[in-house]
Amino acid sequence: MAMQKETKRACVTGGSGYIASELIKQLLLKGYGVKTTVRDPDNAAKISHLEELRGLGALQVYRAELAEEGSFDEAVAGCEYVFLVAAPVNAFSENPEEELIKPASKGTLNVMKSCVKAKSVKRIVLTSSAAAVSLTPLEGIGHVLDEESWSDIEYLQTEKPPSWGYAVSKVVAEKEASKFAQENNISLVTVLPVLTVGPSLIAEARVSLALSLALLSGNEELINGLKIMETLSGSISLVHVEDVCRAHIFVAESPSALGRYICCSVNTGLVELAISLQQRYPQYKVSTDFGGLPAKARLSLSSEKLLKGGFEFKFKKLEEIYDDVVEYAKAKGLLP
Ligand SMILES: NC(=O)c1ccc[n+]([C@@H]2O[C@H](COP(=O)([O-])OP(=O)(O)OC[C@H]3O[C@@H](n4cnc5c(N)ncnc54)[C@H](OP(=O)(O)O)[C@@H]3O)[C@@H](O)[C@H]2O)c1
Repeated sequence: MAMQKETKRACVTGGSGYIASELIKQLLLKGYGVKTTVRDPDNAAKISHLEELRGLGALQVYRAELAEEGSFDEAVAGCEYVFLVAAPVNAFSENPEEELIKPASKGTLNVMKSCVKAKSVKRIVLTSSAAAVSLTPLEGIGHVLDEESWSDIEYLQTEKPPSWGYAVSKVVAEKEASKFAQENNISLVTVLPVLTVGPSLIAEARVSLALSLALLSGNEELINGLKIMETLSGSISLVHVEDVCRAHIFVAESPSALGRYICCSVNTGLVELAISLQQRYPQYKVSTDFGGLPAKARLSLSSEKLLKGGFEFKFKKLEEIYDDVVEYAKAKGLLP
């Protein structure tokens, strides 16, 4: 008699989000039974993509709020893998302490407490960010940062550069999650994506996608956002959303995966990026003049650890990433 293959079960928090929705899709396509959470399951506009994803496999949607302890109990019950993707992401909050830093840590710990109660969870994968690695006042050029590097929260909290609260929230949530995992003997792996771009399954275009299109759309406010990003973090580093989600599943399924994994396929700077895009897409009249920005990025982020572990990026080159983004943006009317 043929043995029936057991379905693996995974929970993805924040199914209304850009990265989470792609992750849910990939898990369903791999045959996982998926449970996801949203804050407001009655908001049809925010969950219509989940209805469509139901066509790919077993998907259940639960209501859960990061601020409420116990809110995720039902969603994580019976799951082997839990992906903590939901987090406050408003990088320009006026009150970062209350809107980003405290809720990110408390929310992460709340989901982890639900995982402890569930007893079925073999591994938790936390989505952090390159913002937890590279926001440190480095002098000179040519730095290569890896998972040993942490954004300098003392500098961020003192100098308060734009989006400082987001970076601090990511560092603090990671450190607290790691401490909780050790104390409770849980296997925790953290993925740190750089600026994540590519097609979105959700209706609304998220900030990272809009930022990636800024040079092509000519949106001054967003181009300024890219300038700030390079000045603060030292580079414009990019990864395709499909690869970010493939990396999440890869580290979940790799028994030996441990600690942090930077997820970055292309390191560039704004000037270099603009020159590449101007050459490849002459129809968009990309400006390459950013008054004073250096010709090359100050640093790069290394994904060596992920690659040495056996992961391979599908979108390795800038052109591969951008061809996909541009095609999607044209189809959605985000670019002419
Ligand atoms: N996109 C990037 O370039 C990038 C790069 C590095 C790391 N990341 C990280 O990746 C994760 C997902 O980001 P994303 O780009 O996919 O952003 P997103 O589309 O805005 O997703 C954020 C998700 O978190 C949920 N959320 C926020 N506060 C919550 C709360 N209090 N309770 C429950 N759910 C809450 C949101 O729910 P609502 O829809 O209800 O607001 C949304 O589903 C985040 O941890 C982010 O820091 C993103």
